[in-house]
Amino acid sequence: MSDRIEDLLGKLDLPAKIRLISGAGFFRFAGEPSIGLAEMPVSDGPSGVRGEQWDERDPSVSLPSGTALAATWDRELLTEIGALIAAEARRKDVYAVLGPTINLHRSPLGGRHFECFSEDPVLTGEIADAYVRSVQEHGVSACPKHYVANDSETERFTTDVIASERTLRELYLYPFERSVAAGAWMVMAAYNSVDGVTMTENALLDEPLKGEWGFDGVVVSDWTAVRSTTGAAKSNDIAMPGPWEAWGAPLEEAVRKGQVPESAIDEKVRRILRFAERVGGLNGEPKAVAPFTDAAAQQLVRAAAAKAMVLVANDGTLPLDKPARVALLGSAAAEPRFMGGGSATVIPAHTTSPLEGLSAALPVTYTPGVHLSENLIPVPLALVTDPETGTPGLSLRYLDGDEVLEAEHRTAGSLMLFGNPNAMAAKAIELRGRLRADAAGEWRIGLAGVGALSLSIDGETVLEDTVMPDGGDPVEMLLNPPQRFVTRTLAEGEEVDVLIRLTPGGGFPAMGITYAIGRPRRADDEEFAAAVELARNSDVAVIVVGTTEQIESEGFDRTDLALPGRQDELVAAVAAVNPRTIVVVNSGSPVEMPWRDDVAAVLLAWFPGQEFGAALADVLTGAAEPGGRLPTTWPKTMADVPVLNTKPNPDNTLPYDEGIHIGYRAWLKSGVAPAYPFGHGLGYTSWELSGLTVSGRTATVTVRNTGDRAGRQVVQAYLSREHSAVDRPVRWLAGFALVEAGAGETVTATIELPRRAFEHWTDTGWAVEPGGFTLHIGTSVMELPLTADIG
Ligand code: BGC
Repeated sequence: MSDRIEDLLGKLDLPAKIRLISGAGFFRFAGEPSIGLAEMPVSDGPSGVRGEQWDERDPSVSLPSGTALAATWDRELLTEIGALIAAEARRKDVYAVLGPTINLHRSPLGGRHFECFSEDPVLTGEIADAYVRSVQEHGVSACPKHYVANDSETERFTTDVIASERTLRELYLYPFERSVAAGAWMVMAAYNSVDGVTMTENALLDEPLKGEWGFDGVVVSDWTAVRSTTGAAKSNDIAMPGPWEAWGAPLEEAVRKGQVPESAIDEKVRRILRFAERVGGLNGEPKAVAPFTDAAAQQLVRAAAAKAMVLVANDGTLPLDKPARVALLGSAAAEPRFMGGGSATVIPAHTTSPLEGLSAALPVTYTPGVHLSENLIPVPLALVTDPETGTPGLSLRYLDGDEVLEAEHRTAGSLMLFGNPNAMAAKAIELRGRLRADAAGEWRIGLAGVGALSLSIDGETVLEDTVMPDGGDPVEMLLNPPQRFVTRTLAEGEEVDVLIRLTPGGGFPAMGITYAIGRPRRADDEEFAAAVELARNSDVAVIVVGTTEQIESEGFDRTDLALPGRQDELVAAVAAVNPRTIVVVNSGSPVEMPWRDDVAAVLLAWFPGQEFGAALADVLTGAAEPGGRLPTTWPKTMADVPVLNTKPNPDNTLPYDEGIHIGYRAWLKSGVAPAYPFGHGLGYTSWELSGLTVSGRTATVTVRNTGDRAGRQVVQAYLSREHSAVDRPVRWLAGFALVEAGAGETVTATIELPRRAFEHWTDTGWAVEPGGFTLHIGTSVMELPLTADIG
C-alpha cells in the first residue's frame, strides 16, 4: 500500500472512516474534503450512462443492450463502445459506470437476460474484458456486476443459489475472473446468497476475488444489499445507496465494542482511496476523455446495432431488392423497445423507430395489426403543451400545502424524481399539460404513481385512487406502477387541460409520476384484418414483433417465452397471404417463434439502442450486413429448454443442479435440437472453411468468402474430449476469431486457445486431464466441419 494512502488513512478518525464506507446519496460515493477526497458520483452503465439523475433534460446515448453487444462477438467494436461510455461518463461527471452485467443466461426466463451477455462464460468473459479495458483506459471505472450467481430475478434479494465450487469456477465466476484480470477497479456484490450466505458478506469476496485473483479495487454493494452492521467485518467495501443507517452510528458502536475490527474498516477505506486515486477523485482532476459529437455517437450506435442483428433464417428475400410496396406491421414498429427496463434505462435525446427508419429508406405503408398490451404510454411530447410556457411539455410543481417548493418545465411524460430534495420534501406534486388529440375517437387519459392520485380534466376531478407498494420488488414498483385511466371521446384537434396530482404515501416519497395516454384504436379484429389486407397487397411484409416491459424487465422473471398478444397469429396470417414475409424480433432474450419455418426471413434485432430504425433499414436494404451470431441458444418451445426453473424452493434455495451444463452444453446433453443453436447467424454472404492447422495451442484456418459481397464471419473453436474421467460438456467454446473478407477473398483466422480452455476445476484447483482433446472449428456449435487433435 502506498505511503500516501497510509498517510491519508492515518488522518481520519473512526466516524470519518465510517462515513466513507457508505454512499453520500443515491448514486454518489462520499468524500472527505480534509484529505482532498472528492464526492464521487456513479451511474448505471450497462447500456448507456444515465448520470446521477434520471432526467430527460440531461439525456444519454442509448446503446445496444447486453445480448446485442455480445451477439457482435467483436472486441474492437466493444473498445469503441467503451470509449463512448467513458465520454458519456465524463460528460455527466460520473467517476464510475455500473456495468457490464456479466451474470449468465442460465434460463431464458431470467428477467435481466437482455442485460447480460451470453449463456457461455468464455464469450461473456471476452466481451467483458474488452468493455472493462476500454472504459478504464479513459480513466473511468467499470463495475462488473453482480458478483455472483445473480442469474435470475425471482426473490432476488433472498434467493440462495446452491452451486458446486466447480460450477461456480467454470461458469459463473469466470467472467469476473476475466474482468479482474482486465484490471477492473470496482465489482458489485449481488443481492442474492450463495450457499447460505448473502453475497455482501460472502467469503467468495475474499477467495477467489480479493485473494487468489488479487482484486485490489472496491466491492460496492448492489443497491440496498448490505444487510447487517456486523457484516461490515466482511469484504464488501461500500454500502449503497447511503448514508446506510446500519453502517452509521451502530457500526461505530460495534467497532468500539470490538464486534467489528477497526482494521476491517481501514481496509475498506484504503481501497476507496486507491479507487479515488485511479479515477481522479483524490487531489486531482479526472482524466480528460475525448468527447463524441452527436453524429459520431449516432453513427457508432447505428453500426453496432447492425453488427448485433442476427439473421437466423433467410430464403434469399433479404437483402431487399428495391420493392415497390412494403407493408410494415406490428405495434413494435412504431413503439419499439430500444432498451430493456429497470436500472439499465437511459433517456435518449433522440430515437429512430423501425417506422421512422424504414420510411426514410423504403416505400412503406404502416398499420400495427395488433396491440401488445392494454397499457397506456407516457404522453408523447408532440401531443402536449405546458400551460406555463406554451411550449411542448409539461409543468411540474412540488408543493408543501399552498407553498410551491419548485416549479419545472419538463419534456417527458414519465418522470423519475428521486435525487431531487424537493421531491423528497414535497407533500404533493402536480403534473399538468394540455393534451391535443391528433385523431378523433376514444382516448384513454391516465396516470401512474405510488400514493394518493387524482386526475382532473378541464378543472373537473374525474379519477381518484390510492396505489400503495404491494410488497413486491421496489424497482419494479418504481418503474412500473399500476396505471389508472378514464376514457374521453375527443374530436381531431380538440384540446383538454389535464392535471395529475400525487400525494406520496406508503413510505415512498414522490419517486415517480407518469402522465399516460392511449390513442384511439380500431377494434382488434378490424385492425388485424387491415394488416393482413395490407400485406396481401404489398410486395413484401415486414412485421416487427417483440416483448413488453411488463413481461421482460428487471425485478421479475418471465413466466413463458411466448410473444404477447396476437403477434404469433398475425405473423401466421400474414405469411399465409404474402410469401415474402420478414419478421424482425425486438426482444432481449429468446421467444418462441412457431411460424419460423413459414416466413421468408427472421431477423433478431434485440434491444438495439436509439438507432434501431436506421440500423434496421441498413440491414434490410443490404447497406449493412446483419453481423450478429447467437450468444445464446434459441429454443423451439419452452418445454424443450433443458435448464428453465428460476423459482427458489420454499426454503429459498435455488439449486443449480444442472452443474456445468447450461446453455448449449445442456442442449447438447439433452439431445434435443433447438430452433437456432449457439453461434448461429447467416449474414449476407457464404463461407468455406478449410486447412485447419494446429501448432501448440494456436489454431489456424483458411476462410474463403464464396459469396458475391463482402462480409464478416465469426470462426468458432470448440473442444471436446471423449472418454474423459470427469463430467464434461459434449463440447465447449474455447476461442473464436472475427474475420472480414471481400467477395471471393481468402483470409486466415488465427485462434489462440488459452490454457484454461483445457482445464477443469478439481478439489485442489485447476487441472488438465492428461491425453488429448479434439478441436472443432466452424460457424456455430452445431456447424463444425473441421476437426483436429490437440493438447
Ligand atoms: C440493480 C443494479 C443497479 C442498481 C442501481 C439495482 O437494483 O440490481 O444493477 O446498478 O440497482 O441502480
